[in-house]
Amino acid sequence: MTFLGIDLGTSGLRALLMDAAGAVLGSAERPYQVAHPHPGWAEQDPADWIAALDGAVEELRAVPGFAALRGIGVAGHMHGATLLDADDQVLRPCILWNDTRSSAEAAALDGSDGLRETSGNIVFPGFTAPKLLWVERHEPEVFAKVAKVLLPAAYLNLYLTGAHVADMSDSAGTSWLDTGARDWSETLLAAGHMTRDQMPRLVEGCAEAGPLRADLAANWGLDGPVTVAGGAGDNAAAACGIGALSEGQGFVSLGTSGVLLAARDGYAPDPATAVHTFCHAVPDRWYQMGVMLSATDSLNWLARITGASPAELTAALGETLQAPGVVRFLPYLSGERTPHNDAGARGSFTGLSAGTSRDDMTRAVLEGVAFGLRDSLMALKQTGARIDRLIAIGGGSRSDYWLKLIATVLDLPLDLPAEGEFGAALGAARLGQCAAGADWQQVMTAPEIARTVTPEPGLVADYAEAYERFRAAYDGIRAVQ
Ligand code: XUL
Repeated sequence: MTFLGIDLGTSGLRALLMDAAGAVLGSAERPYQVAHPHPGWAEQDPADWIAALDGAVEELRAVPGFAALRGIGVAGHMHGATLLDADDQVLRPCILWNDTRSSAEAAALDGSDGLRETSGNIVFPGFTAPKLLWVERHEPEVFAKVAKVLLPAAYLNLYLTGAHVADMSDSAGTSWLDTGARDWSETLLAAGHMTRDQMPRLVEGCAEAGPLRADLAANWGLDGPVTVAGGAGDNAAAACGIGALSEGQGFVSLGTSGVLLAARDGYAPDPATAVHTFCHAVPDRWYQMGVMLSATDSLNWLARITGASPAELTAALGETLQAPGVVRFLPYLSGERTPHNDAGARGSFTGLSAGTSRDDMTRAVLEGVAFGLRDSLMALKQTGARIDRLIAIGGGSRSDYWLKLIATVLDLPLDLPAEGEFGAALGAARLGQCAAGADWQQVMTAPEIARTVTPEPGLVADYAEAYERFRAAYDGIRAVQ
């Protein structure tokens, strides 16, 4: 028996085939673009996701074991609004998680009575509910035709099963879900001018969403029954991929967004901290996370304007962690969620001099992202989450300098999994395996740890002081922006 995990990421789709023992048999990737038709907007055509999935599956069909596929799970970038008419036709490009056009609608909704209490979260502009209010105001002819709103992962579930089904971990990021009760809230739906029949059916991430469509099974050359799981938002899926399901377990992820996630045994929301509190992808578990919107995106931006690759920029710093630099970078290229909830914040450099070099600016960018993660750590600790160590995942964790810096700024050891798969695609494949009958407690194990990056003892205090200056820089810059 084999299982397929699909990670619908922001910059591309990754599909992975896993056997029943959890060994990865093969993987395939297909890139696609994000459109920015106006500053602060970010959109994708859902047809690109389907083309990427078809292409990746076509490649994986050559991997021995594909024909024995029994379960599929989809992990998706969260919060995106895919709007469908009564015939399931896409009405407009999907508005993504890092699109900040609906900040006015988010602020208004966030102020409604009882909203934060029921959803457990601030209504951030990237969340789904304010996007629909924006569409109602600016594209009323589209709004009038909306029969269903699906998150990106749920849209792939529709493609795979023909049914409208979403999981709770992803749905918690809409501001329409009662996150404690794990069900749509009539009150929140009414506040967002939506109705329950416009929502997909809810299942747990590791439960069955439905069988794979017979025509797809035939096209893919499959004979046995294939179960599609509820799936998950990408962060919950990544937590499943590293076995972070219980108190004390968590990760720091350096992707387009920067995420510091802690699994929680109970539901302990604290919206005032700008921490996100969402259902996990297994029953009776939740997780909390701080989210910064531009992590590797900040380094990628510097790479673009300097003409060097991100790897060249970080390699030039060597491997020995230096003391904090005098140049400061605020990583708010797309605004910020945790801790500021400030869609209007923008990035900035301070402390530049005639002698500032490219390396100084690279260090400032890496430090700015590390300080942003410390903001998330402080916010998470305030909710009572226990965090003693973290597993480091995501593309940015390939830089040893950045890892040492983050370990020192957070003053926490960072565990690095051994070579191999441990991200959202693996978590999604594990959800597929559970939906096909396996027990999640057996399947969602921690990866083998190859090495641990520890804080640099002589620099922890220096970085703690530099963090205070970083906080003060935000206040100062925001006053003049
Ligand atoms: C989480 C969030 C991002 C996206 C993209 O709230 O917006 O992490 O899921 O990965």
